[in-house]
Amino acid sequence: MKICCIGAGYVGGPTMAMIAKQCPDIDVHVVDLNQARIDAWNSDKLPIYEPGLDEVVAEARSRNLTFSTRVDEAIAAADIIFISVNTPTKTFGIGAGRAANLEFIEKCARQIARVATGHKIVVEKSTLPVRTAEAVKRILSSAENGATFDVLSNPEFLAEGTAVEDLLSPDRVLIGGESPVAIAALANIYATWISRDRILTTNLWSSELSKLTANAFLAQRVSSINAISALCEATGADVDEVARAIGTDSRIGPKFLKSSVGFGGSCFQKDILNLVYLCEHFGLREVAAYWEQVVSMNDYQKRRFSERIVRTMFNTVSDKKIAVWGFAFKKDTNDTRESAAMYICRDLLRERARLSIYDPRVSEKQIRADLVTACSDLQGQICESDLKLIETNVTIEKDGMSAADSSHAIVVMTEWDEFKEFDFTKIYQSMQQPAFVFDGRNLLDHKKLALLGFEIHAIGKSA
Ligand code: NAD
Ligand code: UGA
Repeated sequence: MKICCIGAGYVGGPTMAMIAKQCPDIDVHVVDLNQARIDAWNSDKLPIYEPGLDEVVAEARSRNLTFSTRVDEAIAAADIIFISVNTPTKTFGIGAGRAANLEFIEKCARQIARVATGHKIVVEKSTLPVRTAEAVKRILSSAENGATFDVLSNPEFLAEGTAVEDLLSPDRVLIGGESPVAIAALANIYATWISRDRILTTNLWSSELSKLTANAFLAQRVSSINAISALCEATGADVDEVARAIGTDSRIGPKFLKSSVGFGGSCFQKDILNLVYLCEHFGLREVAAYWEQVVSMNDYQKRRFSERIVRTMFNTVSDKKIAVWGFAFKKDTNDTRESAAMYICRDLLRERARLSIYDPRVSEKQIRADLVTACSDLQGQICESDLKLIETNVTIEKDGMSAADSSHAIVVMTEWDEFKEFDFTKIYQSMQQPAFVFDGRNLLDHKKLALLGFEIHAIGKSA
């Protein structure tokens, strides 16, 4: 059996590495157009950081896992072809800012139609609007060499930072399709290491829609608790206590109730906006408005945090040094896509603050590129003054202590464990007074810090 996966990103890379590890008899070939990314997958420094991933890749790469840019060759040889390319929000034309850009999916389908011979199973691994498989099937039906296809939907539910754990032991694997034979072929691969009762099968449209719905529900929980955090700050209630109290109700459950500076990541916002666009397309205005509110609440949470920083620091952060701890959208990943940090940093920069940013896994190049993105409009245009501020007012530090040195405030943006271990006595002495801490993750020991003299402002807690 041979598998090809088009797209060597955060999903394609780890997912295929896990299949190759668990199924030594299957040849897995992951292909991408991006040569630098493929080179990194073939090196000791993988393009993405995920705990435990280096070992999985190292084990399989010397045996049955290949990374290359030879897309046509991999398609031609494969029995099963996964499409795991990016499906970002459209930035132009109809549906700009909401609809998914399906250009990359369509290009893959056309390439498969051009190159394939014999019978192939094509698996949608990317997150897609419901009924995309219909378009994929139509494109494939124009195959030039008489090839035939079954199309399956097999959305991925892994979360970054825990990808290896999630792939090893998923809550469920979902496979949607029409052909029982094709569904069984894919299910058998997963059944090598996942128990059958966790492999759910369904029809194509339910599978496609379940993925968008799962992300919408998860993001909704975060926005719900973040909405309550604003009320906590106004009333003296403590959001962590409220989350604990409601989370013990088995109907609500304790997970995904951690209030934060706002959810980030490449998918929650994009998938909800996609859902909103779909609802509007089908004339379901009330449903669209309901889900859109999850994203609006998230924007409010980010904006509220920046405003609180400025207001607390005597209404001006101009020319003040602010240490920003963390830039990734969550801990244990180097991914910064839609990270709350980039928007908070943008807001503070526009208030003329001087930012010293430290993240243990994100490069200086990436941080600067993200700040440019955060300051740009949908078309990628950025004004000269923002560009200048990014050049002159941003320093990237190699450790958190240097970032905090002589600063007026520390802003915690990502919940990296190492931040809890810093020497806060030393940090306090090196800072301007009053030494403010804005904990956007409720990560630090606030009581201890207050005793040392810090002034703490945390999410969902009154100062
Ligand atoms: P990514 O941007 O990290 O990777 C996508 C890769 O596809 C890129 O390297 C790109 O060069 C490549 N690509 C695009 N068009 C190509 C083509 N025609 N031929 C070959 N390669 C091509 O994206 P990702 O984070 O891996 O996400 C992929 C999909 O999975 C998205 O639909 C996303 O919504 C979904 N998803 C992501 C996650 C996650 O945690 N990141 C989790 C679940 C689902
Ligand atoms: C999320 C889903 O959890 C995955 O199931 C899904 O496959 C994936 O999106 C996807 O489709 O891309 P991910 O974005 O990697 O995974 O990470 P999450 O753990 O879901 O966190 C998302 C954001 O919400 C982060 O910024 C995180 O800090 C924030 N969050 C999460 C909170 O603020 N509070 C919480 O209680 C949980």
